[in-house]
Amino acid sequence: MARSKKATLIVDKEYRIAEIDPRLFGSFVEHLGRCVYEGIYEPTHPSADSCGFRQDVAKLIRELNIPLIRYPGGNFVSGYRWEDGVGPRENRPRKLDLAWRTIETNQVGTDEFIAWAANMDAEVNMTVNLGTRGPEEARNLIEYCNHSGGSMYSDLRKANGHAEAYAIKTWSLGNEMDGPWQIGHKTAYEYGRVACEAAKVMKWVDPEIELVACGSSQSRMPTFPEWEATVLEETFEQIDYLSIHSYYGNPENDTANYLAKSLEMDQYIRSVLSTCDYVRARKRSSKVINLSFDEWNVWYHSREADTKIEPWSTAPHLLEDIYNFEDALLVGCLLITLLKHADRVKIACLAQLVNVIAPIMTEKNGTAWRQTIFYPFAHASAYGRGVALVPVVSSPTYDSRDFSDVPLLETVAVYNEERSMVTIFAVNRDAAEDLTVDCDLRSFEGYVPVEHTVLKHDDLKAVNSSGREVVAPVASELPSIDGGRMQLRLPPLSWNVVRLEKR
Ligand code: AHR
Repeated sequence: MARSKKATLIVDKEYRIAEIDPRLFGSFVEHLGRCVYEGIYEPTHPSADSCGFRQDVAKLIRELNIPLIRYPGGNFVSGYRWEDGVGPRENRPRKLDLAWRTIETNQVGTDEFIAWAANMDAEVNMTVNLGTRGPEEARNLIEYCNHSGGSMYSDLRKANGHAEAYAIKTWSLGNEMDGPWQIGHKTAYEYGRVACEAAKVMKWVDPEIELVACGSSQSRMPTFPEWEATVLEETFEQIDYLSIHSYYGNPENDTANYLAKSLEMDQYIRSVLSTCDYVRARKRSSKVINLSFDEWNVWYHSREADTKIEPWSTAPHLLEDIYNFEDALLVGCLLITLLKHADRVKIACLAQLVNVIAPIMTEKNGTAWRQTIFYPFAHASAYGRGVALVPVVSSPTYDSRDFSDVPLLETVAVYNEERSMVTIFAVNRDAAEDLTVDCDLRSFEGYVPVEHTVLKHDDLKAVNSSGREVVAPVASELPSIDGGRMQLRLPPLSWNVVRLEKR
């Protein structure tokens, strides 16, 4: 038998982190590159429905079980006029999108997107433009979407063929307003003030909504975490969540260090939560501000290619990262990290959904296929519903360039009481050996393993392509269980999903 390292894990239903908010498995569609046009929408595609949306893409999106989609940006939203995207399509203007230096045709807008998302069983996290616009336009958009009727914008929605209000619950107050690259970039105080005033009037139009204010666009920003503290000072009473964004990459080609980058995500979450709680203490408040990690993913493969894209075309091939197997392993570690923070991270959006740093790729007039990162996300979204349990882990560790004491075992368990099911998600970060995990299932008497799915590949750089999905999960032998102790063997560098059900 192959050599194996050893770890232990205790899974106990009493060690609860929190009930997982399904919105933790959200995604993101921006008017950027080929995410909307040639991605979800391509009226000339053979699979397009009567509204122009690709059904081959829709099928793959449904496999991801996405409950929430952030829209329409991203950097794009900071120059967007939502009014350009409603009403008869032939009257909609072609505009320069300054964020991505492309042409926006406005053929897809608010009404089409909301209808499409409903078709995907997803609610919309609508982002308002606080770059070039402000509270007035934000309140008008919420009136258009959420007010029943009898007012200018709600009646405009009706005239556009949508009698019922959309009742959109989750709204974001701008995007990455701390970034100098943002159209209408602001200081923390300037943004905090405008976000507060926008939030007030939006909640006056619809008191049922929940609001996300912009945190920093990444932890390396020079204004982090002062930005968070100042924005919260100004908006604390009005908002419900603070956003957090982060992208990861392996430009150094250092796998051990790359796979440890989920520790950086963990630290980032902890720092932002500390800042939220610091402001709560300053305000002598009992209100808890939770997090919306509404942009996260791997993003680095396409950066060089993007510098060569000619400006002012429609649907250029921007941010088209082709993900390898190693990226899927990191995405697995990042998903586990988010689940371990389910008590405070209530919303998260994998950025993005199709073609643009995405789990799904398309060819114009051709096929749609699953990238490597599709699988850990699909698994976590399918089985990461219920209560996240504290993983009590003892694991061998390693040191890498930027991290020390990195556990070889990255894991979390989720208990779904309704389905009498426990799912263990686990990554073995070790490149050389199996990891045998002695799992103490103490409080799950009568539970037996029914599935062990593994994602692995001999070549860390293996990628999927149209019609050739070489990185795909396989069913593995079920782990043995005896007296409430399960021996789980994780192959080197693998993503694992082990499901147990009560018998
Ligand atoms: O997701 C791509 C871009 O990354 C978004 O437009 C922006 O918010 C972030 O910088």
